[in-house]
Amino acid sequence: MRAAETAGESIVLRVSRYLPGRDAEPVPRDYEVPLREEWSVLDGLNHVKDVLDGSLAYRWSCRMGICGSCGMTVNGEPRLTCGTFLSEFAPGPVVVEPLRGFAVIRDLVVDIEPFLGKLASVTPWLVRNGAEPPPDAEFAQTPEQLGAYKQFSMCINCMLCYSACPVYALDEDFLGPAAIALAQRYNLDSRDMGAAARFDVLAAAGGVWDCTYVGECSAACPKGVDPAGAIQQYKLTAAMETVRRFLLPKGAR
Ligand code: SF4
Ligand code: FES
Repeated sequence: MRAAETAGESIVLRVSRYLPGRDAEPVPRDYEVPLREEWSVLDGLNHVKDVLDGSLAYRWSCRMGICGSCGMTVNGEPRLTCGTFLSEFAPGPVVVEPLRGFAVIRDLVVDIEPFLGKLASVTPWLVRNGAEPPPDAEFAQTPEQLGAYKQFSMCINCMLCYSACPVYALDEDFLGPAAIALAQRYNLDSRDMGAAARFDVLAAAGGVWDCTYVGECSAACPKGVDPAGAIQQYKLTAAMETVRRFLLPKGAR
């Protein structure tokens, strides 16, 4: 036996189960899984799926905190299940529910379409307005220029920040933390020319002004992104841009 294994020990996963058309509402179901030091909550779910109950539905892919698809609510908090270990919750139970703030499709699978729509609305790519480098050249950046946006580029779209955000819980039209952080990822990139188009989304109803700066989004982020900081940063940009546009002659706004 390897040292990391705890012989004979187990822990209960209390998993939310919901099948539309069969269940009126989600119901918790207990599964006993091996308690191993190196097992994440996702390993526990995979054990349920492989050995105990193949009907369990949940999302995952990379098992290494990269794909962003395994976010769930674990003992009340939004977490990446591949980076959350069963031993943290011993002797259990470990309560696993879908990410809060999203409609549940089945068991632990939530509807990500509204989130994807918000991401797309901020033009999440480099806008160049036709200004391309010669084919044999590239857009060089200094370390300082890279540093201006690098932390926002670490986002893996796991949606934990939305699940933690009390504003999003009350207002599904709020653009939300990750979409605004992603907008800043491009706004602050020295190669980008799309800030004006993003302003129309970020400064509109549902944009940055809806944020009350609770900061739970940044606390929940598993990748060290600071969406709350991005939002406060952009509030200043939006205020200055609003004044600048106001001072322009009417036809030039
Ligand atoms: S900002 Fe952090 S918590 Fe939010 S989606 Fe990106 S990686 Fe996940
Ligand atoms: S499985 Fe990819 S982030 Fe967890």
